[in-house]
Amino acid sequence: MKKLTIFISGGGSNFRAINDAIDQNLIAGEIVSVVASKRVCPGAEYARSIGLPVSIFPETGMSEADLLLQLQNYGTDYIILAGYLKLIPKEIVAAYRKRMLNIHPALLPAFGGKGFYGKRVHQGVLDTGAKITGVTVHIVDELYDHGPIIAQAPVEVRRGDTADTLAGRVLKMEHRLYPRVVGAICRGDLVWEGEIPFIDPPLSMEND
Ligand code: GRF
Repeated sequence: MKKLTIFISGGGSNFRAINDAIDQNLIAGEIVSVVASKRVCPGAEYARSIGLPVSIFPETGMSEADLLLQLQNYGTDYIILAGYLKLIPKEIVAAYRKRMLNIHPALLPAFGGKGFYGKRVHQGVLDTGAKITGVTVHIVDELYDHGPIIAQAPVEVRRGDTADTLAGRVLKMEHRLYPRVVGAICRGDLVWEGEIPFIDPPLSMEND
């Protein structure tokens, strides 16, 4: 059973999707703790409501060393970033190299990096006329939205889309993709070809 710590900053809908998949026995993992960048956000409220310990970083001034120690004390095998908006300290990236994931609401390496968050991602897609956007799950390194890509799923851009309508359809796809990727990782299906990760056997997006 892999132990997971989820990092959030806002709504926490991906966190909930992963938690629901665990409850349905679709992921052989356990969420041991949640880290939120702010004390008050719906994701943190939800975590507290189901009895999970929530740490606040960096808003309360907790040090990087203390956060790392805490992650290790919880036995965290994998860190799952789910809408966490702060850059992860280098010390934590180093300790969890190849064991920290992020989800991004576009097909990286396009429409990612500093400043591409929330609606700005989807507006960026619309402004170029791109016809396919989607979801990317990738390994976290020292830069925003930068590490090697684990899995992607497409979402079509439709005539009349706004950043809001597109965000809604992309978020639905996130809720399908992220639990599957986390499930595969907990099964030990993440394999590395040098510095490039693959899920093997490949994910199936069917059955929902
Ligand atoms: C998602 O769109 C995710 O891709 C991005 O931040 C958003 C988080 O949403 N990194 P939620 O907090 O999971 O609802």
